[in-house]
Amino acid sequence: MINLKQSISIVLFVFILGIQSGNSQNNATVLTLKNDKSAPVISKHIYGHFAEHLGRCIYDGFYVGENSVIPNTNGVRNDIIAALKELKIPNLRWPGGCFADTYHWKDGIGPKEDRPSMVNRWWGGVVEDNSFGTHDFLELCEVLGTEPYLAANVGSSTVQEFTEYVEYVGHKGGSPMADLRNENGREKPWNVTYWGVGNEMWGCGGNMTPEYYANIYRQYATFMTDWTNSDKLFRIASGANVADYHWTEVLMRDIPKNLIEGVALHSYSFVKWEKKGSSTKFNEEQYFATMKTALRMEELVNKHSDIMDKYDPENKVALIVDEWGGWYDVEEGTNPGFLYQQNTMRDAMIAGTTLNIFNNHSKRVKMANLAQTVNVLQAVILTEGDKMLLTPTYHVMKMYNVHHDAQLLPISFEGPAYTYGGETLPALSVSASKDKNGLVHVSLVNIDSKKENKVEIDLKELGIGKFTGTILTSAKVEDHNTFNNPKNIVPKEFKNFKVKKNTVEITIPPFSVIVLEGK
Ligand code: AHR
Repeated sequence: MINLKQSISIVLFVFILGIQSGNSQNNATVLTLKNDKSAPVISKHIYGHFAEHLGRCIYDGFYVGENSVIPNTNGVRNDIIAALKELKIPNLRWPGGCFADTYHWKDGIGPKEDRPSMVNRWWGGVVEDNSFGTHDFLELCEVLGTEPYLAANVGSSTVQEFTEYVEYVGHKGGSPMADLRNENGREKPWNVTYWGVGNEMWGCGGNMTPEYYANIYRQYATFMTDWTNSDKLFRIASGANVADYHWTEVLMRDIPKNLIEGVALHSYSFVKWEKKGSSTKFNEEQYFATMKTALRMEELVNKHSDIMDKYDPENKVALIVDEWGGWYDVEEGTNPGFLYQQNTMRDAMIAGTTLNIFNNHSKRVKMANLAQTVNVLQAVILTEGDKMLLTPTYHVMKMYNVHHDAQLLPISFEGPAYTYGGETLPALSVSASKDKNGLVHVSLVNIDSKKENKVEIDLKELGIGKFTGTILTSAKVEDHNTFNNPKNIVPKEFKNFKVKKNTVEITIPPFSVIVLEGK
C-alpha cells in the first residue's frame, strides 16, 4: 500500500516528467505553432510526381493509345487525367529514371508509325516503340495543368543532342529545331523550365565519379539556354544516392553557381535492400524497418543541406528529392523488371511523414518527386484493364495539397517514441502552414502500429478557434484498396478533437494521417 505522502510524490514526479518531455498534464504532446513571418513558403513542387518508361507506368498505365476502348485523350486514360487533376499535381518528371540516359528524344517525335524501336535495357528488356514521346508528354502536361520536368540524357548522349532538345521544345521559331517542331504539328514552344542533366550518374547514368560528372555537368549546362536571354531554365544536377555526402560536396564545390539551380537526391524506403519483402504481407519488424528508412529522410535532408549551406550560404541552389517512396518485391506473377507493387497504410505512413519532412525543410527543399505515378513502386494510381484505383498514398497527397505554396508555420515539440525490439522511432510527425486566405493546416501522422497518441496544439500565436478535420486510417496497417474494393481506404471526416481556449486536443489513432483545417 502506498501512503498519501508517497502518492503526492508520485503525482509530482509524473507532472515534472510531463513538463520535461513537452507533455501536457493529460499526457498529450504539446505542439507550439509559431507564426513566423520570415518562415519559407512551402513550394507546391514538393508535391511532384515521376513517370518513367518502366513496366506499366507509361504503356498500359497512362497511355493506352488512341484506338483503345478505354476512354482517352490522345491515348492517355481519361480516368487517370481526372484523378491527377484532382490531386493538383504541380510537376511531372519524365522519361526516367535510368531510362532517361538511354533515351534519344528524336526517336519519339514525328509520325508514330515511322518512329524507331529500342530495347528498354534497364526495365525488363521489353521493346519500346516510342509511341509515347515528347509531344505526347508535353501535351499531357498541358491537359493536366502541370509543369513538365524533363530528365534528359547525358549518359549516352552528346552535348549537341541535349542542346537540340532544349531548342526543340523551347525556341520560339526560326531555328532548325523549332522548324522541326513546327513540321511535327506544334508551332508554339513549350517553355519547359525544369531540366534534369542526367539521372543517377553514379550508377545507371554512367557510373561516373562526382569529379568527372561535375565537369560533364558544367559542359552540358553551359550550352543550355531558354533562347530569350533571360534564362529561366532550372537546371538540376543528378544528385547523391542516399547518404553519399561526398557526391553533394563535390558538386557544390566544383559547379559554379551561375550554372546550377538544383541538386538532386534519391532515397527509397524498404525493409532491407537485399530482401524487400511483400508490399502487403509484412510483420511489425518489417513495418518498423521500413519506417526507419523512411524517417532517415530527415537526417539526409539535414546533412545534404549542411553541405549546401557551406557552399551556398545564400540558399540559391535548391535540394530536389526527385525520387523517393517505398520499394518492395513485385506482386506475385508480375514481371520482376516492372516494379509493380500494392500500396497499404504503411505507404500512407511513408507519404505522410516524408511530406512533413519536406514541408519543414522547405527553405532548401524546393521540389520532390514521388516514384512513381502509375503502376510502379509507391504509385498513387493502379490500373488493371479498364479498372483504376486510388491508393492510400494518393489520398495522403490529396489531403496534403492544402500546403501547396502556403507559408510554413514552424513547430517545436518533443514527441513520444514508437518502440519495437528495443529500438525507438519518433511516433509523431507534424507540419503546419498558413495559406493565402489565412487558413491554417496541420498535418499529423502517428506511425505507432498499436498505440494512439494525444496531441495538444498551442494556438496562442495564431488566433484561430474553429476546426475541421480529415483522417486516413484503417483496421490493419496491411490494409489496401483492391480492384474489387477500391474504396476500402478513403479519407473520412475527423471529429475526435476538442477545441479549448488557445488549444486544440486531438487523439490520433495508430498508423493514421490527419489533416486539420483551422480558421
Ligand atoms: O524509380 C526506379 C529507378 O530507381 C529509377 O529508374 C532510378 O533512377 C532509380 O534507381
